[in-house]
Amino acid sequence: MSISLSTEAVNKVIDGKATAEVVLQEVKAEVDQFKQQGIQPCLAVILVGFDPASQVYVRNKVQKAEQVGIRSLEFRMDADTSTETLLAKIKELNEDASVNGILVQLPLPKHIDENTVLQSVLAEKDVDGFHSENVGGLSQGRDVLVPCTPKGCLRLLKDHLGDLSGLNAVVIGRSNIVGKPMANLLLHENCTVTIVHSKTQNIQDICKQADILVAAIGRPQMINADYVKENAVVIDVGINRIEQHGKTRLVGDVDYDSVYPIASAITPVPGGVGPMTIAYLMKNTLHATHIQHGH
Ligand code: GUN
Repeated sequence: MSISLSTEAVNKVIDGKATAEVVLQEVKAEVDQFKQQGIQPCLAVILVGFDPASQVYVRNKVQKAEQVGIRSLEFRMDADTSTETLLAKIKELNEDASVNGILVQLPLPKHIDENTVLQSVLAEKDVDGFHSENVGGLSQGRDVLVPCTPKGCLRLLKDHLGDLSGLNAVVIGRSNIVGKPMANLLLHENCTVTIVHSKTQNIQDICKQADILVAAIGRPQMINADYVKENAVVIDVGINRIEQHGKTRLVGDVDYDSVYPIASAITPVPGGVGPMTIAYLMKNTLHATHIQHGH
């Protein structure tokens, strides 16, 4: 009895860290194949300003790239960098054939025109999938570069559930980075998809219909048991730093302890979606390398 209970508990927590390691092994094998053809995949990361969280994310991205054999270039620019100076840097990287992927870490300082910057990255080097060519391509179901976090979430869902056809999926949050691309990916998997957001009425009732619930709102522990259907699979995209008992702690958008007993499976924070985002950035860098070599 105790053995079957503990097995159930292990399967119930979706281990993003372990799955990310599997994805990184896949990436490493593919990098080796590129290298045998004399191709060295390369990712350029640009950070403007000194936001502490962004500095950590960028360091992690660069380290992970090196770990799997992808060459990484890191460019740090002052917080008062002008839009023109940033655009000039991106143009240089667009024109550099040895650079396959370009990522501009967000958020950018307020004086910078974010839309112009994101549109200036060549679509075939846009490993974030933020360029309108890629956004449109995703909407049409073309094999384009797609934002890393929703791709990582989808991998966790498919690894756990297999075929998603016909399932009711509710995405909480409508951001360009997560909510909207997540909804599109789930739609292409034949889910029935609803997006709810801050102006939605009866959010709880809608969430309670979901077989798959993806929380991407940026509100610490907002989604508790009242939002979750029995046996739903819950994916928590939130990364929120909260003060508790005089210490800071990372929590998701889901109230894990409240939801765990109801869900059939749930991603923890940390160790859920976070590692998958970086792993899929590496996958996207290889996808970009394929596109540029006409594969
Ligand atoms: N900041 C928070 N998430 C992301 C992301 O997915 N890509 C980039 N470039 N910046 C981010």
